[in-house]
Amino acid sequence: MNDSRETIGPAAFVAGYPIRHSRSPLIHGYWLRQLGLPGSYGPLAIAPEEFADFISRLKDGGSRYCGGNVTIPHKEAAYALADRRDDRCQELGAANTLYLSEGELHATNTDGYGFARNLDDRHPGWDRARKAVVLGAGGASRAVIQALRDRGFTEINVVNRTVDRAKELADRFGAVIAPHPLAALDEVMQGAEFFVNTTSLGMDGEAAPQIQFAGLASGALVTDIVYIPLMTPFLAQAEAAGFATVDGLGMLLHQAVPGFARWFGVTPTVTPELRQLIIADMEQHA
Ligand code: ATR
Repeated sequence: MNDSRETIGPAAFVAGYPIRHSRSPLIHGYWLRQLGLPGSYGPLAIAPEEFADFISRLKDGGSRYCGGNVTIPHKEAAYALADRRDDRCQELGAANTLYLSEGELHATNTDGYGFARNLDDRHPGWDRARKAVVLGAGGASRAVIQALRDRGFTEINVVNRTVDRAKELADRFGAVIAPHPLAALDEVMQGAEFFVNTTSLGMDGEAAPQIQFAGLASGALVTDIVYIPLMTPFLAQAEAAGFATVDGLGMLLHQAVPGFARWFGVTPTVTPELRQLIIADMEQHA
């Protein structure tokens, strides 16, 4: 890690371990160029045992950064080590965005925001639905559930291989959540207006189980937070059954907006050109 280099304008980072595959530098680099802003955004590979020291230096002004993103495996540690946490990240117990303000390190989580804003863009009116099925109960599922609840869904069925994890989410988010084992999936799909996969099933060309999309309400929307490949097995199955789908790439793009606005002072736009830039990078590294 090298944080001694002089830069012009604010400097932000994405810290993870490993960090090689992060596309955040491409996203923020695109916006800095497009907006003609001074500043930099770079990847930092920080091992878990180094992370607390890194945060200490950030807090006491000993590093050149004004903030940054954190990704796997640092989201929970970043949450715990920040001076202040907003309500969204408090509820999730994990942070993905950090910024210094008046000498304090603030933590927030923009994953749920990114999820909802992507759907606003790609399928306006998606949040008129009320009954959802969420497949998966891991960290990503929490942010999705938070977004669905905040957008007024009244029945969020969380279906998970390990049903106890779905039950934990019901404890965390309250009566709007109904936890189920995988065996109940076909039944809870009946009449649902929204389906989202938050598991890693189907990622990187892996096979995924068949899902009975036909039981969904007519006009239901199906989305997946996996974006490699863009057309995941679940999205392909849903399209074949005649349902509208939205891929997960836009969540990655939109979750980056609030951080950029904090660090660099301008709210950027998720453009088709940015989406194409990331798709081209995905194809190059496929
Ligand atoms: P993330 O933070 O990315 O959500 P995670 O916390 O490891 O990652 O959660 C992964 C999710 O994918 C979980 O819901 C997991 O189910 P379990 O809680 O039962 O582990 C789900 N998942 C992963 N592989 C799966 C598989 N082969 N079949 C069913 N569910 C799977």
